[in-house]
Amino acid sequence: MNRTYNCGILGLGSSLPEKVLTNQDLEKMVDTSDEWITKRTGISERRILDEDMPTYKLGVEAAKKALADAGVEAEEVDLIIVTTETPDYLTPSMSCLIQSEIGATRAAAFDLNAACSGFIYGMSVANQFIKSGFYKYILIVGCEGLSKVTDWKDRNTCVLFGDGAGAALFGPVEEGYGIITTYTGAIGELGKNLTIPCCFVSPQDIEVRVGENKRTLWMDGGEVFKFAVRIMEHGALKVLEDSGLTMDDIKLIVPHQANIRILEGAAKRLDVPNDKIFSNLHKYGNISSASIPVGLMSLIGKISFQMEII
Ligand SMILES: CC(C)(COP(=O)(O)OP(=O)(O)OC[C@H]1O[C@@H](n2cnc3c(N)ncnc32)[C@H](O)[C@@H]1OP(=O)(O)O)[C@@H](O)C(=O)NCCC(=O)NCCS
Repeated sequence: MNRTYNCGILGLGSSLPEKVLTNQDLEKMVDTSDEWITKRTGISERRILDEDMPTYKLGVEAAKKALADAGVEAEEVDLIIVTTETPDYLTPSMSCLIQSEIGATRAAAFDLNAACSGFIYGMSVANQFIKSGFYKYILIVGCEGLSKVTDWKDRNTCVLFGDGAGAALFGPVEEGYGIITTYTGAIGELGKNLTIPCCFVSPQDIEVRVGENKRTLWMDGGEVFKFAVRIMEHGALKVLEDSGLTMDDIKLIVPHQANIRILEGAAKRLDVPNDKIFSNLHKYGNISSASIPVGLMSLIGKISFQMEII
């Protein structure tokens, strides 16, 4: 029988733009208030890229930090997966741009768009390649520039999102460590509830959209909210079942950061205290597929136990 390996995180890195956009700043841009945003979302501020700064540059920085953290050279990386729903170009991919800038000359590279769940999808792919021994080192970079697709006149959405990148180097780890199980899924028909059109789509092709600007992110917040709470509970229970663990075995849940009320709703359904669910929403808002690696990065040095990532 072929040997299998345990796959785990060997190094982490993150990169956030320096520019901070506070709720008070947003009060001057749209009809909103710090009180409304904090109460309804848990967000106080978010990081925003300068307009002329390509998003992938954040990914380059996060990737370099993750490699340095792991003590692995760029030339040793076998595969780079960039998870993003906000690529700078349709082609070249962000993964190719990052591969070139960090000098990962041996690495295969592709982008993966699974919206906010991109990092979990990337991790599932890395797990299979490393478990089988096909690849040794896989770099996953969640790299998002939501500010570039935000309608800054739409108070329903512009208060929610931010920019940032987080990277994790995956590789073989000792018995007893690493990923126990992963679970991914999709309900395509609900895709219409959060859309970012691509340049080829003409506005009339986009159903169920409102607002003047048809080229920016649009969302039915209420529908997304209900779905997110339900699916977080479902995903958490599924990985517990698959791994033969119970919620008592879990020390901390590190979920995608969308809205504090979504996290609290999921905590209630799962019957866990709110402090068992990690959140850094107040500082960074929703940075889509970068939120989990950025969250993990901020936990370094603060935890010494195994985590469940949802
Ligand atoms: C967007 C979201 C925060 C809205 O919160 P909500 O409590 O559902 O608020 P509603 O949509 O019911 O709107 C309530 C009122 O607040 C208003 N409102 C919306 N955004 C506002 C803002 N930034 N400031 C002040 N008022 C606002 C609405 O216009 C509405 O006013 P009305 O009653 O006069 O029509 C919430 O639905 C949400 O977080 N959804 C999920 C979003 C998300 O996470 N998306 C990404 C998933 S990865």
